[in-house]
Amino acid sequence: MGSLDRCSVEFSDQILTMDSGKIFICLTTLLFAYTQAATPAHSPPIILTPTPAPAPAPTYVNLTDLLSVAGPFSTFLKYLESTKVIETLQNQANNTDEGITLFVPKDKAFSSLKKQSLSNLTADQLKQLCLFHALPHYYSLSDFKNLSDAGPMNTLAGGSYTLNFTDISGTVRIGSGWTNTEVSSSVHSTDPVAIYQVNKVLLPEAIFGTDIPPPAPAPAPVPDIAPVADAPDADGGKGSGSAAKASSPSSSHRILGWRWLMMVVVSGGFVVTL
Ligand SMILES: *[C@@H]1O[C@H](CO)[C@@H](O)[C@H](O)[C@H]1NC(C)=O
Ligand SMILES: *[C@@H]1O[C@H](CO)[C@@H](O)[C@H](O)[C@H]1NC(C)=O
Ligand SMILES: *[C@@H]1O[C@H](CO)[C@@H](O)[C@H](O)[C@H]1NC(C)=O
Ligand SMILES: *[C@@H]1O[C@H](CO)[C@@H](O)[C@H](O)[C@H]1NC(C)=O
Ligand SMILES: *[C@@H]1O[C@H](CO)[C@@H](O)[C@H](O)[C@H]1NC(C)=O
Repeated sequence: MGSLDRCSVEFSDQILTMDSGKIFICLTTLLFAYTQAATPAHSPPIILTPTPAPAPAPTYVNLTDLLSVAGPFSTFLKYLESTKVIETLQNQANNTDEGITLFVPKDKAFSSLKKQSLSNLTADQLKQLCLFHALPHYYSLSDFKNLSDAGPMNTLAGGSYTLNFTDISGTVRIGSGWTNTEVSSSVHSTDPVAIYQVNKVLLPEAIFGTDIPPPAPAPAPVPDIAPVADAPDADGGKGSGSAAKASSPSSSHRILGWRWLMMVVVSGGFVVTL
């Protein structure tokens, strides 16, 4: 330890004047002293007993808990609870072999529905409508690329309660006939439970019929021909498409502007050198 102390003193006092050889020796001494202190000579060798890889913990997701903190999804949750569909969904979520994919509309989606859309449904129809928002399998967002080609997908409502999916450059669009919307965010996605937020309530043809009025032009007042369900309209798809189109001319303008500026600067410099 004497050499260590001396070295420390030397190190602090003479750091600026020492040559690199001395610094190296001092550092080596320090390092040696440190490792000696860290591992006492008489300590028994550490035996690493191979522990078996822990079995993956059952990933239990309490859907009620999750939906009540995210969102706000309180309207949908209220429907799930009043119809007892929450139990079916939780049971499906507990099934780690299959799992569940649930599309949850935000509260705003319900308040923007026409009043009659849900209030005149029978208890059984309301239950089916809730089940219509779930697929009996866990799908990550990237899985939807394949599902685009898979044709109509069965929902937990069964029968003719199917949904169509399309993946448009990473955005998952959902079609129910009456409703065209898209996954607007992922609330939870860990096998076996996927919960995706949607901006609209998914209205099934199996309840509201296939007599779907054509989408009304945006600014015109919606004709009162659909007594039970909202007329379908593209939610974001067309809008973002035209927005993308609208943004390209402005960026080319910007590039043109830069070119002009460069030309002015370059020709200005040229004039100056003349
Ligand atoms: C899930 O969470 C809700 C709300 O916190 C609670 O009432 C319910 O008992 C929980 N269910 C289970 C199975 O833990
Ligand atoms: C789901 O699993 C949890 C935890 O194992 C359990 O408490 C709950 O009762 C189950 N719920 C359903 C509906 O199967
Ligand atoms: C909905 O039901 C109420 C009575 O419960 C009735 O007055 C109303 O006309 C119904 N609306 C539609 C669109 O069927
Ligand atoms: C999607 O399709 C690709 C190629 O077609 C395949 O390799 C992949 O396993 C599929 N994924 C799913 C989830 O089906
Ligand atoms: C789903 O797509 C199929 C074609 O694959 C089409 O026949 C059907 O009408 C679509 N259903 C809905 C609800 O959009």
